[in-house]
Amino acid sequence: MSEASEGPAPDALAQPLLAWFSEHKRELPWRDEPDLYRVWVSEIMLQQTQVETVKRYYEPFLERFPSVSALARASEDEVLAAWQGLGFYRRARNLHKAAREVVAEHQGVVPSDPASLGQLPGLGRYTVGAILSLTQDQRLPILDGNVARVLARVFRVAGSPKKSAVSKRLWALAESVLPERQVGDFNEALMELGALVCRPTSPACQRCPFGELCAARAADEATAYPEPSKQAEVPRVERVSLLLRRPDGRFRLEQRPPEGLLARMWELPAAELGPAEQPARAAAALARKLGARARPRFLGTAEHRFSHRHWLQHVFAVDAQGGEGTWVSAEELGDYAVPTAAKKTLKVAGLS
Ligand code: ADE
Repeated sequence: MSEASEGPAPDALAQPLLAWFSEHKRELPWRDEPDLYRVWVSEIMLQQTQVETVKRYYEPFLERFPSVSALARASEDEVLAAWQGLGFYRRARNLHKAAREVVAEHQGVVPSDPASLGQLPGLGRYTVGAILSLTQDQRLPILDGNVARVLARVFRVAGSPKKSAVSKRLWALAESVLPERQVGDFNEALMELGALVCRPTSPACQRCPFGELCAARAADEATAYPEPSKQAEVPRVERVSLLLRRPDGRFRLEQRPPEGLLARMWELPAAELGPAEQPARAAAALARKLGARARPRFLGTAEHRFSHRHWLQHVFAVDAQGGEGTWVSAEELGDYAVPTAAKKTLKVAGLS
């Protein structure tokens, strides 16, 4: 990795970026929001979920849990139910735990000093910087995927941002480019530029406010930065798994097809989600197909990583009367080849 300072003087970015932002920023429900709790919720939701999806969940979640104390009073089940469909439920569990800590240790007021905020579960350097800069203009840097891409290009930073030395350098750059004022706008504008202009595979350099200030663009190499990590991104597949249980306690297992992934192994009946399909809908459709009439109840999720794909399995349960297929008792499970991915769903269902 070259440490040579390529690219513009760090203080050259703020003016063109802020001018661009005021003209092109999207109206998003969590923008220009001074409340730490509300921005916190948005940032946690945005961590692993697309803006378009978060837009559907943000207001309903805050109507249900309008304050940190309301969230702390709720049960984990209620919080998970409101989160259902956003995936990565650990985020919701941490948010809930953190809300309880805020009530127990900070009199219900979200702390506004970075060290205390950073102690809460689920809050790393990015989230702390985002919350406090966006709400209070605290002079803290942020570095997420979008910002890392912008900075790697503007300063032509070699190496994958997944490497700790590269990430360290990018954090240092993120700090060095901060203006004295309008820090929140500046940070949000960097993210916005990454989302709208400095896109991963097809950057719209002709619309970029940095113009030739960008070292990668000046070298006509924008898409060469940031360097991809060695480990290729694996596709994430979401599925629903259904515990279909008879009155005698037996539940249905299905055998996977004879070819392909986990060939001929056994699992709970399952279906892959379509691109925008909600887990609850897919579970209801699967239950109907298998002859159950009740509405499936959400139990939890089970993630599993294969080398070439990543499953996010939403596990549901529904009562059934029986019917064709293989119905097993918990004791008989050992007789079937059940892969780890499926064991995880059974564990969520309380069966292994
Ligand atoms: N991603 C994370 N936080 C964001 C924000 N405030 N605006 C747009 N995208 C974001």
